[in-house]
Amino acid sequence: MKKDHYILGIETSCDETAASVVKNGTEIVSNIVLSQIQQQKQYGGVVPEIASRLHVEQITRVIEEALLEAELVPSDLEAVAVTEGPGLVGALLIGINAAKAFAFANQLPLIGVHHIAGHIYANQLLHPMEFPLLALIVSGGHTELVVMKSHGSFELIGETRDDAAGEAYDKVARVLGLQYPGGPHVDRLALESDGSVEFPRAWLESDSYDFSFSGLKSAVINYKHNVVQKGGEINPQHVAAGFQESVVEVLTAKTVRAAREFEVKQVIAAGGVAANKGLRSSLTEALEIENIPFYVPTIALCTDNAAMIASAGYEMWKSGVRSDSTMNGRPGMELNSWNE
Ligand code: KG4
Ligand code: ZN
Repeated sequence: MKKDHYILGIETSCDETAASVVKNGTEIVSNIVLSQIQQQKQYGGVVPEIASRLHVEQITRVIEEALLEAELVPSDLEAVAVTEGPGLVGALLIGINAAKAFAFANQLPLIGVHHIAGHIYANQLLHPMEFPLLALIVSGGHTELVVMKSHGSFELIGETRDDAAGEAYDKVARVLGLQYPGGPHVDRLALESDGSVEFPRAWLESDSYDFSFSGLKSAVINYKHNVVQKGGEINPQHVAAGFQESVVEVLTAKTVRAAREFEVKQVIAAGGVAANKGLRSSLTEALEIENIPFYVPTIALCTDNAAMIASAGYEMWKSGVRSDSTMNGRPGMELNSWNE
């Protein structure tokens, strides 16, 4: 009988302290996510020093819980996978040091995972990945279109030239007086809305798969200024709906065009903004018309978690990728292929 392979994943790149055990890269055995949102939201964003301190306080317990819930002991594991970057360097280092100590104490291989590879591989926890595939990655720090020809092969075909989609959501949320993280609140207001303000679309050059969201963000700020200056009040729902329509229309159109051009077998969405209901339904509808299968993780697996790191880590482990004890947090880490 084939032996099952269990990977322990650890993620601390931003404001979630997370550990998870995944079986054979596809099956979640345990998935512990401790969010810092309650502690961070009073500051309107993530304060790096606070993130690091909370990670230090929680990481050991979170790893213990992941093993306890999985009913496994360290010797049942094949490897420890940890987010190496990108992210907040102080936050990354807490997870990396915990992973190093755990791997060393239990004589397990250590694997450094790119956070975005993790977001992409969250999809593998729900359905098999078929290549070539197109991944739309939309998170707090990233907006990217990536073509994958096989496991571990990443070709970046487009990215944001300024703000990430999630960043734009969070900034617009702040303009509307909503709490951090603002994405889900803007999403909710947009869905409840009975009208929308018209905002520009940033198409860039006609053949470009790049994105830009800073102009849209400025348009929202200017709109509010103009209304307030005339003594009026903005309708937050209409603003949220108009902003979301602009973001979703551009993301959908570029994704569909790339899916056609690269003749992919499936399109997947990943990252926190992939939790957006407007974006999910727009991509579902548009790709249905194209007859291209579209998959997006459950909301909980779209936002930061360690199961996605364990899933990507499993594929890297299978390919023989290993890190050593010199691994460092890499805040600006690039998404490089581990398989060509
Ligand atoms: O992937 P993620 O959890 O962390 C990063 O790696 O950045 O993404 C967080 C981002 C935040 O900007 C948050 O506002 C956004 O994802 N987000 C959403 C939604 N849920 C989370 N944006 C739009 N609509 C949502 N429903
Ligand atoms: Zn993320």
